[in-house]
Amino acid sequence: MSRCSSVTKADVPARAVSVPRLRAVLVAIALSVLLAGCASAPARQGTTLYERLGGEAGVAAITEGLLIRSADDPRIRDDFAEADIVNLHTRLVEHLCALTGGPCTYGGRDMKAAHVGLGLTEADFNALVENLVDAMTERGVPIAAQNELLAILAPMRGEIIRQ
Ligand code: HEM
Repeated sequence: MSRCSSVTKADVPARAVSVPRLRAVLVAIALSVLLAGCASAPARQGTTLYERLGGEAGVAAITEGLLIRSADDPRIRDDFAEADIVNLHTRLVEHLCALTGGPCTYGGRDMKAAHVGLGLTEADFNALVENLVDAMTERGVPIAAQNELLAILAPMRGEIIRQ
């Protein structure tokens, strides 16, 4: 499996950023993946959901698609204004990998602790899920695999909203 870790500390500053800056950072992340030759790899058949999401390259590209869409999304972009986007990208990739049977250990906070104080609503949650679906569709992830991932994430809603 090729290594497609898309972000290094040298690529982007690990600091809280403004929304326009956030967008620039996300574009830099996407470009670094493209330059690594990972973004064009199609989702492929496999036994684990992780493999059907496209493995390391697929999950990294889906996460970038999700973050770029969310940073551009007037419904939720303000929620990301203070986020450390490099850490968020790394942790999200790790989390999705671990949840779907990939060879990763999630090293971030639990979902309640990660979202406490953000005041997220059900509408925010739905908007993010919509962006995730769009990112997976763009990546060519089969509908069955998309639904499997959504079924894994859906029960986390109670730990993420109204914290
Ligand atoms: C199933 C849905 C979601 C999952 C699986 C998820 C996953 C994560 C993960 C893994 C982290 C990193 C935690 C860490 O750094 O220790 C995180 C942080 C964050 N999430 Fe989510 N999240 C979800 C929903 C949302 C929604 C709906 C929003 C906003 C609309 C959101 C906004 C954020 C922000 C802003 C942070 C960074 C917080 C900080 O830097 O302190 N998340 N999330």
